[in-house]
Amino acid sequence: MLTVKLNQDTGLKVHLRPTNSDCSMVKFASEVSDFSAKKGELFFWPKENSESVLLAGLGELSELKLDDLRTLAFKIVKELVSHKVKEASVKLPELELDAEQALAAFFEGLIHSDYKFNKGTKDKKEQEITINVETEVADAEKVLEEVQNVMEGVFLARDLTNLTSNEMHPADLANCAKEKLEPLGVKVTILNEEEMLEKGMEAAYSVGKGSSFRPQFVVLEYNGDDSTKERTALVGKAICYDSGGYSLKPTSGMITMQADMGGAASVIGAFLALAKNKVKANVIGTFAPVENLVSGTSYRVGDIIGSMSGQTIEVENTDAEGRVTLADAIYYATSQDNVTRVIDIATLTGACVSALGTEFTGAITNNQEFYDEFIEAADLAGEKVWQLPISDDFKKANKSKVADFTNSAGFGGGTITAGLFVGEFLADKDLPWIHLDVAGTAYLGKPCGYLPERATGVHVKAFYNLLAK
Ligand code: BES
Ligand code: MN
Ligand code: ZN
Repeated sequence: MLTVKLNQDTGLKVHLRPTNSDCSMVKFASEVSDFSAKKGELFFWPKENSESVLLAGLGELSELKLDDLRTLAFKIVKELVSHKVKEASVKLPELELDAEQALAAFFEGLIHSDYKFNKGTKDKKEQEITINVETEVADAEKVLEEVQNVMEGVFLARDLTNLTSNEMHPADLANCAKEKLEPLGVKVTILNEEEMLEKGMEAAYSVGKGSSFRPQFVVLEYNGDDSTKERTALVGKAICYDSGGYSLKPTSGMITMQADMGGAASVIGAFLALAKNKVKANVIGTFAPVENLVSGTSYRVGDIIGSMSGQTIEVENTDAEGRVTLADAIYYATSQDNVTRVIDIATLTGACVSALGTEFTGAITNNQEFYDEFIEAADLAGEKVWQLPISDDFKKANKSKVADFTNSAGFGGGTITAGLFVGEFLADKDLPWIHLDVAGTAYLGKPCGYLPERATGVHVKAFYNLLAK
């Protein structure tokens, strides 16, 4: 358990130093070890009680980025905890970065070190640690509170995504969103399967109809800006388990598929962060929690199904289920009043993992201006996104002979055709739209910097930054 306090100079001293600093401690450390204050380098100097010192390298200040501060803060806490330190203080020196952004990034890194997913293991006693941050930033208290709220959203997204499929079925995901968000003033509407069918959501319903745990549809509404009616829509993929359906996945591909609702989890996490910080923005979120399973009532390969938009879909592969559910979720969101732009976020394609790995989210857009605005927000968050091209040929590949679209283009560029499929279900084709494929980035097989293994809560921060600025 971590506590962050401000401007209290107690506990072990942590010294942040750039390379080539003429600090006597750095000189000492470089004599007794090969410490040279390189970026991220740590040197722990044990002495009696709180007299111990931790030196932390910043590297060349001209090269230091916000994300380096996140990583460094994370590493500092891990190091202190490994030495059983209970309290430490650290002063952020003057950097060639915006002081408030640097402080926020440092806070964020500290808080990242505190994430633990406990389910399934016996609770080990966690070490308590207090970090005192000394800073001259005037609004430090406010900055800390804002970052803590955003990180609560990130951690919520991670927890939801990490919960295994026996612990979280579609109704549980819907109810959890309600439980967490309604007390913060977010309106949460849950539609059951009858209500979904009344609205014509045959696509999302079809994917989930084979499970005993019935399909749901969730609408989140946060109105924090009464100076305008304009709203941004966030649409998440919410497959609580993806077995592939009749196009069954092999065991190796199925084992992490409880995380196939990571997109929706990030939408929920972003709403929590926005509402807790009372951000001036109007946002609508939609997602369709369903399970893609094999049973006598499952949708089958070859089915032709309708959708809320009126367009029909040929199911050539039941494992390409995400785009089918998103068809209704994005149509619903974009046909609501005053929605002026939309982002969908989905663990959509294995092709994205092949192309970009686990560091970069794949993206497509129909509006470069909106995309550039989003990228600025994602960059500030340290969340990497790579734009993929679109073309009429890719769009044509989604056409079916027997329906308006096929859910499995079989054309190559699987991340692009999957994204373009979702775009076909915008209620207004000209609405600025960004599609994010987080198949590689929402869930990691091993830790990476300050990101833990398993769920990352990716893009909660980018969504927050986009809407809070
Ligand atoms: N949920 C998967 C995509 C996925 C794969 C996410 C690996 C995370 C890690 C998605 O529903 C899927 O199965 N996609 C298919 C599409 C294909 C059948 C056209 C895929 O990528 O193989
Ligand atoms: Mn699938
Ligand atoms: Zn899936």
